[in-house]
Amino acid sequence: MEGQRTPEILDYRNKNGHGWSFFKHDGILRSINTTPEDVTEMTRKVQKLELRDDDVLVAAYPKCGTHWLWEIVTMLKAGNSEYNKKAKEIAMLGMPKFERADELPSPRVLNSHLNFRHLPEKLVEKKIRTIFIMRNPKDVSVSLFNHLNGIKLSFRFDGTYSEFLDLFLEGKVASGDYVDYVKDWLQVKQDNPDLPMLTLFYENLKKDPVKNIKTVADFIGVPVSDELCEQIAEACSFKKLKSADTEVKEHTTNPLSMWKEGRQGVYRKGEVGDWKNWITVAQNEIFDNVIERRFEGTGIVFTYE
Ligand code: A3P
Repeated sequence: MEGQRTPEILDYRNKNGHGWSFFKHDGILRSINTTPEDVTEMTRKVQKLELRDDDVLVAAYPKCGTHWLWEIVTMLKAGNSEYNKKAKEIAMLGMPKFERADELPSPRVLNSHLNFRHLPEKLVEKKIRTIFIMRNPKDVSVSLFNHLNGIKLSFRFDGTYSEFLDLFLEGKVASGDYVDYVKDWLQVKQDNPDLPMLTLFYENLKKDPVKNIKTVADFIGVPVSDELCEQIAEACSFKKLKSADTEVKEHTTNPLSMWKEGRQGVYRKGEVGDWKNWITVAQNEIFDNVIERRFEGTGIVFTYE
């Protein structure tokens, strides 16, 4: 691993100074606000996390519906449609708070944006049920831009969507290259037939939540009535989750300290096809010619509207 040497700094800021500087650590871009030693230590802690047989892992590139799916799985595991007061960040592998994951009562719904190789070592051996959710890359780019542009934190992005897109298309964002991330997980599925893994699409969950919730319930081995699936779909609708996020959830960081005034937070719009309000004809061609082409041969077909 590149590990403990002084890393090369990759300055990905554009001519307006918008963007970030990173170093690469085990193939992943890391913010220069951290150090290789810190990353190594955090990775080690995640990899050594003691897994429990009834854990479920939600894996996703940021903005693919991680919160939404986490709430659904949490309700399915609880067997009701009540909101769990805890927010998903405490069960998020790789974030500072995850060290308290050991204190979480079973059944735990873990979640992560990490690549497979940085997740707990026993994931496959313990056959941890893993749900991987994807979203069309155009909406991912818009959602990620709005997230990074809406926060007050030091790693926010102050430029325009077009400026952001230049970086996103080249994978020069903290969450890395979207296509690589998805392909990595598809490879995991292929290489690890013993890992119980379900792949979902944000757009399908949006179109037919009840059917997808039933699929998730079957996958995690939870007997569930059609009525409960409907209740969970309703409780986890965009509108309901958005208000539960402020009214019910006990966040580890006060969202007000994180988001610029008037910005929507994680629950921004929750639509399929919002990209049409952001992407120019020329940018759309780049998506179709470059990004779609990179998915060729994977069997993945995204829905864009
Ligand atoms: P938008 O920014 O397009 O609104 P993540 O949880 O992975 O960060 O993903 C956040 C995205 O999922 C946001 O997309 C958010 O609005 C959307 N989302 C969250 N809950 C949703 C729901 N119940 N229905 C549809 N979209 C939802």
